[in-house]
Formats: sequence, C-alpha cells, structure tokens
Amino acid sequence: MAFPTDRPRRLRRTEAIRSFVRETRLSPEGFVYPLFVCPGEGVRKEVRSMPGVFNLSVDEVVKECAEVKSLGIPSVILFGLPESKDEVATDAWSDDGIVQKAARAIKREVPALLLMGDVCLCEYMSHGHCGLVETTAPRSVGAASVAAMIAEDYEILNDPTLELLARTAVAQAKAGMDIIAPSDMMDGRVDAIRTALDAADYQNIPILSYAAKFASGFYGPFREAADSAPHFGDRRSYQMDPANLREAMREIELDLEEGADMIMVKPAMPYLDVLHEARLRFDVPLAAYQVSGEYAMIKAAALNGWMDYERVMMESLLCIERAGASIVLTYFAKEAARLLA
Ligand code: PBG
Repeated sequence: MAFPTDRPRRLRRTEAIRSFVRETRLSPEGFVYPLFVCPGEGVRKEVRSMPGVFNLSVDEVVKECAEVKSLGIPSVILFGLPESKDEVATDAWSDDGIVQKAARAIKREVPALLLMGDVCLCEYMSHGHCGLVETTAPRSVGAASVAAMIAEDYEILNDPTLELLARTAVAQAKAGMDIIAPSDMMDGRVDAIRTALDAADYQNIPILSYAAKFASGFYGPFREAADSAPHFGDRRSYQMDPANLREAMREIELDLEEGADMIMVKPAMPYLDVLHEARLRFDVPLAAYQVSGEYAMIKAAALNGWMDYERVMMESLLCIERAGASIVLTYFAKEAARLLA
C-alpha cells in the first residue's frame, strides 16, 4: 500500500501537527557553554575569529555564569589563559591556576551551575602541546625540509604526562568542578585521572572523556581564543585521524573500560556518523562538542548575509541531537536558549 493511501504530507500541514510528531526536541537542558578565563579584572576581550565569544577575567566569568544559569543552561566548561606558561604546565595543576580561581569564584556565586573542567595541558605549556615534549638533537644539519626535521626531533611523551593530567584533575575537583573532562588524548589518562580522584576522596566526581577527539582543522578559532596553538608540529600523533570511525569506537571502549562515566565525540557536525554509531553501541550519556570552527563558519556566513543565522544555528544543534548526542557543548548555547525560551 502506497500512494494515494500513504500521504506523508498529512503530518506536515501545520506547525501544530509537525511539532506533535517531532522526533527530536531541542532544549537547553543538555547544553554546555564554553568559557575562556583570562587574568585581570573587568576584562571582556572578543575573540577575533569567534564574534560573540570573549576572553573573560574571573569577575566577568562569574557574571556570565549567572546569566547562563538564568537562561536555563545547566553547565559551563572552563578553559584557561594563564598569566605565564612553562614546560610542565604549572598553571594547569596548581591550586591558584587561573581555572581553579574561576571555579572557586563561580561555585561561591552560582553554586547550582554544573561546573565542568577541561583537563588538558596545551593552554599552559610554552610550546602549546597537550603533553610533555622530549626534544632530541637534530639528525641533519642544513635541514632540507623543516617539517620533516621537526617531525623527527620531538616526541610527546605519553606516560610521564599522565601524572600532570591526574594532578590537574584533582586540583580542579578541589576547586569545585563537578565534572572532569579530559581532552588531551593521551593513552591511559582516564584510568590515571580516576585513580587520582579516588585517592583524593573524589569518588563521586564523574569523568566525561573526550573519547573520540579528532585532529581537526575546525579547532582553529579555539586556538586563538585559548592561545593554545602548538608552536611546532601538530597534534596528529595524539588526536585521531579524521578518516577513522572504527578506531573511534575502540577509543571509546577503552575510555569506558578505564572508568569514563560519559563520552564525547568532537567535532560534531562533520562527525555525525561517529556520533550515531557511538549512540548505537554504548549505553552511557553521549556528548558532542560543536567546536569553534563550526561556530565561526555559521557566524561568518550570517554576518555576510549568506544564511539565515537563527535557522541554521538551531538546525545544526537539532541535527547533532538527532544523530545521538544528548549533551552538546556549544558556543551557541546562550543564543539558542533564548530562542527556545
Ligand atoms: C584542548 C582543547 C581544544 C579544544 C577543546 N579542548 C583544542 C585542541 O585540541 O587543539 C577545541 C575546542 C574548539 O575548537 O572549540 N586540547
């Protein structure tokens, strides 16, 4: 039995019937708003490649958090721009690190907000990599290809980095973070962080791991916002190859075995197939990070008058949820929440 008996358009005739049969309903309850904390007071510095996104000093971050909460957004994730950087990412794990300061201030003023801490070292390392770097002497003098030379001359050390990540997670929990979200992509970091949190009596702090995080060009604007671009080489030896879906499933499986409570796929829109497959295979809360480049593309097109901004923003979020994410980290959180109210 098909046409003329079947007429799918019957369920599309009015907004009343369309919303009645809608399969995915967007709501701010799953949104997480990313914030970039910087030193100083009264600082609100717009990020050039992310119009509408700011570097905020602690006092401004607190104000922002009050607004976020009032819009019905339950959670924020904090990134830090430290006063100074070094080779061991001191500001990431010290008790007066910039993110720890912000977390304490937010907890004091907006205690009901779910505070998420991004655990990574790149923003705090002088070289901008997510782990400890070991450099070896150049093999050849008079380098023919700088890129080739660089590739041979340094290594991101996995195991020694784990201790710093674990320390960072504990410092964040101590400062009041409700959820720990490691984004560094070192092997074994979830286990190292879980073990350290438990030992410090933070058994009840859940881990949302950036389990399938791809080495993506879509992070470009973020690296400007967080001043975290690597000074040499790239992140391809730790973040995933964008070509690999099966490997993404393996990464997720390993993080769950190590103790992750929730998992994330990142970026979001170019990786909807990965999200969908993860939703089918794993029965834990699934998050997606709609990253800086996804935001910047839509924003730029809108500012040029090339697309209907609100419509495209809402469609992008809806599609990420339809693909399987119930938690969405997005720079659109505030604007989308306003439209949904
Ligand atoms: C830290 C980190 C990055 C992002 C989130 N955590 C940057 C990177 O891996 O280079 C990207 C977020 C975005 O682009 O919005 N490692």
